[in-house]
Amino acid sequence: MQSSVRQQLLSAFSKADGGFVSGQALAEILGCSRTAIWKHIEALRQEGFELEAVRKKGYRIVSKPDKVTENEILIGLETNWLGKEIVSLDTTDSTQKEAHRLAQEPFKEGTVVIAEEQTAGRGRMARQWHSPKHTGIWMSVILKPELPPYKAPQFTLLTAVSVVEAIREVTGLQPEIKWPNDILLNGKKLTGILTELQADADRIHSVIIGIGINVNQLKFPEELKEIATSLAIEKGEKISRSHIIQEILKRLEHYYHLYIEEGFSDIKRRWERYALSIGKRISARTVTGVLHGKALGITEEGVLKLLDDEGVIHNIYSADIEVEKKAD
Ligand code: BTN
Repeated sequence: MQSSVRQQLLSAFSKADGGFVSGQALAEILGCSRTAIWKHIEALRQEGFELEAVRKKGYRIVSKPDKVTENEILIGLETNWLGKEIVSLDTTDSTQKEAHRLAQEPFKEGTVVIAEEQTAGRGRMARQWHSPKHTGIWMSVILKPELPPYKAPQFTLLTAVSVVEAIREVTGLQPEIKWPNDILLNGKKLTGILTELQADADRIHSVIIGIGINVNQLKFPEELKEIATSLAIEKGEKISRSHIIQEILKRLEHYYHLYIEEGFSDIKRRWERYALSIGKRISARTVTGVLHGKALGITEEGVLKLLDDEGVIHNIYSADIEVEKKAD
């Protein structure tokens, strides 16, 4: 829909202050047919507006889409530099892709790319990430730490701690971390973190941290129904996405400074406190096979330590892990 048509429509509804506006009146304001009005109304519905249509009365707006605007994030954002530059998109293929592009131009460290919808959201191991409109947080944060590339996994763990604490603060819910980058509630996936690099052999140019959080979805597609959840489902009420974003950015900035100035120990301790697998028997599916044993913790580099039944400690760099059920 042309933005001028959209503006005229929304202004007519705004003047009616929640009341009905007849199709005839809208046709006159916009100078088009009633069939064209019906199409414009459908386009608003596609954008997330809930519109009621009643014969002989016309149309009225029942609710507007819950959008996360740049202003909403900036007002009340308690950071010094992180998230002060926000690229806010209505729809994009992937905020990661957009952030990778931005990172090659002159840009401010701490720029955040956020979208209402991703049409090709991507997850770890080339998986897809379901990112429907107006319901979740789909954002990528660009950092420029002066560190060697092997330190990059620590950013995933630092982000996981920030997200868990932000969710605790805003909702009171207590999510758990599944190594390396999943955040779960009641055993179902709530959040995914994807850390990607632009680097050469010994220096990081940019770290691009993608964060996907299921916030206000009440339904998931069939294939995700059993494995995914949202904050609204778990809490039983709608949650403010901008409030969660602000709390995440505040913590990300804090832990980033802490990490650069004092090292990883405090963040590691917090991560282990929120991790569901530590101290438990797990199976770890790696590219070379499946390992079974007790998850001992993580190293300073964010590598998972697993003690197998022969007493050998394995360092696991990449795997899908499951907590094993106890045999009776
Ligand atoms: C995973 O668990 O596999 C990671 C999922 C990461 C999804 C986020 S949503 C924002 C950013 N843009 C993407 O395309 N992916 C990340």
